[in-house]
Amino acid sequence: MSEKQTGIEEQIEKKIAEAYKEKFPVSRERHEKLINYIPGGATRSLSYFKPYPIHIDYGQGAYVYTHEGHKLLDVTNAYGAIVHGHGDPDIVKAVQEGIVRGSQYSTPTQGQYKLAKLLCERIPGFDRIRFVNSGTEATLFALRTARAYTGKDKILKMTGGFHGTHDSVAASTKKNVITAGIPKGMTEDMLEVPFNDFQALEKTVKNHASELAAVIMEPFLGAGGVVLPNPGYLEHVRKVTSDNNILLIFDEIFSYRVNTGGCQKLYGVTPDLTTVGKVVGGGLPIGVFGGKEDIMNIFCHEKTDKPLYHSGTFNGYETVMQAGYAALSKYDETAVAYVNKLGDQLQNGLLESFKSNGLNIQSNQIGSLLNLHFVNEPITTAEQVLESIEQLHTLMHLSLLNKGIFTIPRGLFILSTAMTQQEIDFLVNKIDETLKELLPLIEDKYNHLLL
Ligand SMILES: Cc1ncc(COP(=O)(O)O)c(C=O)c1O
Repeated sequence: MSEKQTGIEEQIEKKIAEAYKEKFPVSRERHEKLINYIPGGATRSLSYFKPYPIHIDYGQGAYVYTHEGHKLLDVTNAYGAIVHGHGDPDIVKAVQEGIVRGSQYSTPTQGQYKLAKLLCERIPGFDRIRFVNSGTEATLFALRTARAYTGKDKILKMTGGFHGTHDSVAASTKKNVITAGIPKGMTEDMLEVPFNDFQALEKTVKNHASELAAVIMEPFLGAGGVVLPNPGYLEHVRKVTSDNNILLIFDEIFSYRVNTGGCQKLYGVTPDLTTVGKVVGGGLPIGVFGGKEDIMNIFCHEKTDKPLYHSGTFNGYETVMQAGYAALSKYDETAVAYVNKLGDQLQNGLLESFKSNGLNIQSNQIGSLLNLHFVNEPITTAEQVLESIEQLHTLMHLSLLNKGIFTIPRGLFILSTAMTQQEIDFLVNKIDETLKELLPLIEDKYNHLLL
């Protein structure tokens, strides 16, 4: 690298980092206090970024407000758990009215009935469901259900698929995720094939058919970069699993929001078991696993003498049920179409911006979810996502915060129904400005990204 190149890189990095520190001094103070009690000053790995994370005071609608008094457009939306913006009045009302009557009674409740009925009516793969408290717990129990039902141990997952943080799925899911502490025994029954690879799936399933309980997959890689299935891929997975007597689990914890019936309805492919979470709790902690009646009957005290044990202090927490029901009742076809259209508008705006800046970079979008990648060819695999330039993501993330946009460091943008065309225009403009700011660095160091 020439001196001139180093100069440009340093200049841009310094300018963006200094502007950030200048804009968020109170966050720095709070970070320095918190780090004395929480390692890294963040209780989830993803919330930490250098030089220090922002601290948010409160949220309202499409925006969050920092302790410095800055108003930021929130395109993280709690990593997808929030779909109606912050402080949605209907959800707030449901929680307030509900909580004064008690938050959890450890019995079946009307709230569980209402939310379970709504989910089973909407999601094709749900005949029967059970509630848990996080997506991680939902996939853990979906796998246990599949193993208990089939009497087989092995599970096949897709490279780049994310299914939470429990031992058997956490290992090797993502770049830079350290999974020390997971005993080998927890992963020896896990197999992996690349997403969108028709042959690898078929071959692995056939070779292990007698030991495989299930294939678990996201209909599209969500956390793995919004990588969509190639035409016919989901149908192929469905056929290969059915032909070989293996259960198919769709993890729709992230993808559910693209359609009232999840991606399975959108693509017309129904799995045997499904997990959902995030938006389904209206912004409160939830996980749900469920599936075909004959499979889920292994939990049913009235259908079997020895039901599979599944309990949890907070399962079916009544306040969460009320929040989830309020959120989903208004996340109907019209609301989904509305927020998905905002997603299309964002996509169109970004594609124009890439072109006008002479950039050959990618934007993978479905509905209200979009991931920008600093990669110069269309992305259909998890491996390509790993090629995206981390330095550019880091700089874009900080620079967008400086410009009033709170986003996820790896280029993922998550929209909400609280947004309008005005927010999308603002977002497109600020991303465009940031790309212009990064252009000299791209020209010098990453010129394979130029048209
Ligand atoms: C597809 C998918 N599965 C599982 C999880 C884990 O959910 P949770 O973070 O609620 O444990 C996530 C979270 O991002 C997810 O996107």
